[in-house]
Amino acid sequence: MYDETVTADAIAIHTDTYGTEPTTVAYAPGRIEVLGNHTDYNAGTTFSCAINMGHCFCISKSDKPGVRLTAADINATTEFDPASPEPLEKKVQWANYVKGVIHYLRGFDVVVDGIDCTFLGSIPMGAGLSSSAALEVATAYAVLSYAGKEIDKIDIAKIGQRAEHEFAGCSCGLLDQFSSIYGVHHGLIHSDFRTLETYPVKLPDDVVFLMINPHVKHALAESPYNARRLSCEKAAAQLNELVDYEVGALRDIKFEDFEALKGQIDPEAAQRATHVVGEIHRVEEGVKLLSEGNLKAFGQFLFDSHETSRTAFENSCEELDVVVEAAREAGALGARLSGGGWGGSCVALVHAVDAEAICAKIIEICKTKHIAPTAEIIIPSAGAIVVK
Ligand code: GLA
Repeated sequence: MYDETVTADAIAIHTDTYGTEPTTVAYAPGRIEVLGNHTDYNAGTTFSCAINMGHCFCISKSDKPGVRLTAADINATTEFDPASPEPLEKKVQWANYVKGVIHYLRGFDVVVDGIDCTFLGSIPMGAGLSSSAALEVATAYAVLSYAGKEIDKIDIAKIGQRAEHEFAGCSCGLLDQFSSIYGVHHGLIHSDFRTLETYPVKLPDDVVFLMINPHVKHALAESPYNARRLSCEKAAAQLNELVDYEVGALRDIKFEDFEALKGQIDPEAAQRATHVVGEIHRVEEGVKLLSEGNLKAFGQFLFDSHETSRTAFENSCEELDVVVEAAREAGALGARLSGGGWGGSCVALVHAVDAEAICAKIIEICKTKHIAPTAEIIIPSAGAIVVK
């Protein structure tokens, strides 16, 4: 299910701003991360889904050189030279995701110039739902279509990731871009970041996800995200010295070996790796649980994930902890922080019949703790598309 409203609004704003209808329009969804926190850049595996909110990107030809870009959400316009490899100044950081993508597409012989562009999103900013990846993927789909070119979907994901690394300063993995590209209607995506393969996983009909947003600030480039990535790499390098097989990333260490050897490596790196190695293990077990329809045990994995986020990876915060506890008390099958952490949203797994009541109960419990989250039902949705 793609967000037709945001697409119609983006087209109308583009037409109004530039005096001509866009010839190319693409749409890409945000995502929720269901299980497998911080495993992507450790060559691990994840469960995620694309959501029913996303970004729409419109293009029309201009008679002037350069790229004119309007961010319809904030009613701002900027211009840049698509040939320049430099990020734009911080006050137009929103444009860097687009500029980065347009720049790296040039490496694939996809060159655009003299275009007017508009983007509009329905993903709340800072909610940890990957609005930036949705923007990158929508940009790439639109630019490729405008230029009449096709490249591999994995390369589209990598281009988005490079834009994050080099133009936004966050050393993220590929989870967000994969989810936005490979999303499936009413299904999860099981991604393997070693092989770069994704598998659709059917969800039982009687469960849905809730997205609960306590509205706390979330900016990954300023968060300790990059430092956590370095700790994980340090743990992998030190474990590699202790076993007789190759540990190129935390994905490679056997769960039992990690348990036996974690006391022999740098304590902080070991603590961070405890969460990641546990997550990789839970995703693998989770595949079996979902195929058996064991939602109770799968839901418990979500709670377990949040617990090691809180205690070992330390990427939670008070508000997210309150939300997860409220979800438990309200009868959710499982709940955890979703995405990078240090703010953002929680995801909860619930039986569809209980969804409305659980949302209301979570909000009521949080109110007693002076937190005012919003809660909504997420419709797992298909991945990015070219609308026209
Ligand atoms: C952010 C990053 C992803 C991933 C998650 C944590 O969403 O962009 O690459 O690392 O955090 O799992």
